[in-house]
Amino acid sequence: CGIVGYIGKRDAYSVVIKGLKRLEYRGYDSAGIMLHDGTDLKVSKTKGKVTDLEIKAEAEGTIYGTIGMGHTRWATHGVPNDVNSHPHLSNSGKIAIIHNGIIENYEPLKKELSKRGYVFHSDTDTEVLVNLIEDVQKQEKVKLGKAVQIALNQVVGAYAIAVFDVDKPDEIVVARLGSPLAIGIGEDEFFIASDASPFIEYTSNAIYLEDEEMAIVRLHKPIKVRKIKDDTLVDPYVQELKMNLEQIEKGGYEHFMLKEIYEQPNVIKDTYRGRLSSTTGIIKMAGIEDNIEKFLQADRILIVACGTSWHAGLVAEYIIEEFTRIPVEVEYASEFRYRNPIVNQKDVVIAISQSGETADTLAAIKLAKEKGAFVFGVCNVVGSSISRETHAGAYTHAGPEIGVASTKAFTTQITVLTLIALRLAKAKGTLSKSDFFRYLNELELIPDKVQEALQTNDEVEKIAKIIKDTNNSLYLGRGYNFPVALEGALKLKEISYIHAEGYPAAEMKHGPIALIDEHMPVIVIAPKQGHYDKVVSNIQEIKSRSGKIIAVVTKGDTQVKALADHVIEIPETSDALSPLLTTIPLQLLSYHIAVLRGCNVDQPRNLAKSVTVE
Ligand code: G6P
Repeated sequence: CGIVGYIGKRDAYSVVIKGLKRLEYRGYDSAGIMLHDGTDLKVSKTKGKVTDLEIKAEAEGTIYGTIGMGHTRWATHGVPNDVNSHPHLSNSGKIAIIHNGIIENYEPLKKELSKRGYVFHSDTDTEVLVNLIEDVQKQEKVKLGKAVQIALNQVVGAYAIAVFDVDKPDEIVVARLGSPLAIGIGEDEFFIASDASPFIEYTSNAIYLEDEEMAIVRLHKPIKVRKIKDDTLVDPYVQELKMNLEQIEKGGYEHFMLKEIYEQPNVIKDTYRGRLSSTTGIIKMAGIEDNIEKFLQADRILIVACGTSWHAGLVAEYIIEEFTRIPVEVEYASEFRYRNPIVNQKDVVIAISQSGETADTLAAIKLAKEKGAFVFGVCNVVGSSISRETHAGAYTHAGPEIGVASTKAFTTQITVLTLIALRLAKAKGTLSKSDFFRYLNELELIPDKVQEALQTNDEVEKIAKIIKDTNNSLYLGRGYNFPVALEGALKLKEISYIHAEGYPAAEMKHGPIALIDEHMPVIVIAPKQGHYDKVVSNIQEIKSRSGKIIAVVTKGDTQVKALADHVIEIPETSDALSPLLTTIPLQLLSYHIAVLRGCNVDQPRNLAKSVTVE
C-alpha cells in the first residue's frame, strides 16, 4: 500500500491525489482520501484506482483543506471494496488513520474492543488499530501522540501509519515498523509518504523514519522523532534527495514498462560506470572491497530474493559458480525464512531486491543475521529498508522502476552480480587473465548490444500479433538462459494473464512435452554460445509435435532459423553475459501482447510493485 499526507498552505487535495498516483505502484485495488478544512473532517474512498477516487471525492466535495491524508491499497485483510479502503475512522468519527502493513494480533484486540462497545464496519485490521487508539485516548486521557504510542506497544505486526485527530487539526502522527515512511520538510509545510516520489517537486529534504520510530508532524514546529518502545528522543537525520521529477515520469513513452525497457542500455552502463576499468582490470565496489575476506573465506554464498530478483539470483548462481568456484545456493526468501535453514558465520548471504522493501526478503535477512551470516544487499532504492538492514551492499543504478513488471531492475541486478563475480574471481585467480579481461570488455559492450536487441521491437510486435490469443505458452532455455526462460514466462503471465511456464529445455521431455500441439507457442532461447546443439535437438522435438516455435537466436543463425516459425535475432556475446541480451525481446514480447490484449501494462491486476506484507 501507499500512503501520503500533507500539512501546510497548499491545497492538500491536489498534493495528496498527485502523490497517490505516484505511489500506485505499491497497490491499486482501492484508494481513499481524508481532508480537514478547519472545521469539518471529510473522507471519500472507493474500490478501484486513484482516478476513480478523484471522481468520487469531487462528487462528494472532499476537496477542501490544507491538511489531508490519502491511501492506495493492496488488499491483505478484506476484499478490495469501498468500506475496506482507507482512511478508517474511529467510532467517534474523530480519529482517522491510513495504514500500510498488517496488524497480526488484530483478532484479540478486536474482541476486547467489541466488549467495550466498539463497532466495526470493515473487515480490516486497520479499523481495529484506530479504535484502539481512540480507546487508549479515552482511558488514559492522553493526547493523540501518546495514545498512538501506547496503542502501538500493544500491537504485533508491521506498519507505516499516519493518524489525524480533529481535536489536533494541525498535526499528523506517523510511525513505522517494517513498512517505509518518509517525511518531506518544506517551508512551513510537511509531506508524509511511503517514499519520496509524492513530494520530490516540493522539497529535497526528507527524514526517513527507522523501524520502531514515530514522529509528531506539526505545523510550525520542528519534527520530534521518538522510539515507540521507550519514548526516547532520536536525533532525526535530514537527507538530501537526489531523485528528480523527470526520472519518475513517462518521458514520452506510452507506458512506464516500455520506457524502462528502453532505458536499459543507459542504466546498465550507469550500474558499472566508475566501478570497472577494462584497461587496468580494476573492479571497485566499496561494499565488496571492505568485506572481500568474508567472501573469499565463505563456505558458500546463499542468495535470497523474490520474483524477478530471484531470477536474477539464479543467473548469478551460474555466473558466480563458473567464475569463482564458490558454491552458490538460491532460495525464495519466503521459503528460507520459515524452514529453519542451515546458515552460519561462514556463509555469505546476498539479498537481491529492487525496492529494498519486500517483506519476505527483509525477514530472510534478519534471520540470516541472527544466525551469524554476513549479509550483503543488492538493491535499487537508495536508503530502502533492505539497504539499511544488510551489513554492506552494492546498489544497482536503474533509477526509479515504476512498471510493476520488473525489467531494468533485472538486467542491472545481473550487471552488479557479474561485477561481484569478476572481482571475486580476480582475487581467487579462478579465471584466466585472458578470460577475465574478455568478460570485462564484453560487459562494456553490453549497453550497445542491448540497444541493438531493442531494434527487434517491430519484429517482436508482429510475433505478438500472431500469438496474442493463446491461452498457454512455454518458455525454454538451458544453462544461463534457463532463468531467462523463467523470467520470460513470468513477464508474460504477470501482464497479459496468459498462462506461461518456464522450463529448462531438456526437462521438457519429462512432462511439458505432453502439452505441445499446434496451438502451443514455445519460445526457445537459443543463442549460439552455450548448449546450442542440445537446444537445437529440443527444438526438433517440439517441431515433430507441431509446436509453434519462436526462437531467440544469435544474428546470422541458420540452423534454428530453418526449424523455427519465427526467429528474433540478437547480437552475439559470451554465454555468461547472454541473459542481458536474450531477456530484451522477451520483455518486449510480453509488453506487446499485453497491449494488444488491452491489459493494464503498468498496473496488472492483483499485483503490487512492492510487496511489504509476507
Ligand atoms: C513483486 C513485484 C515483482 C518483484 C518482486 C520482488 O512481486 O511485482 O516484480 O520482482 O515483488 O521485489 P523486489 O523489490 O524485492 O525486487
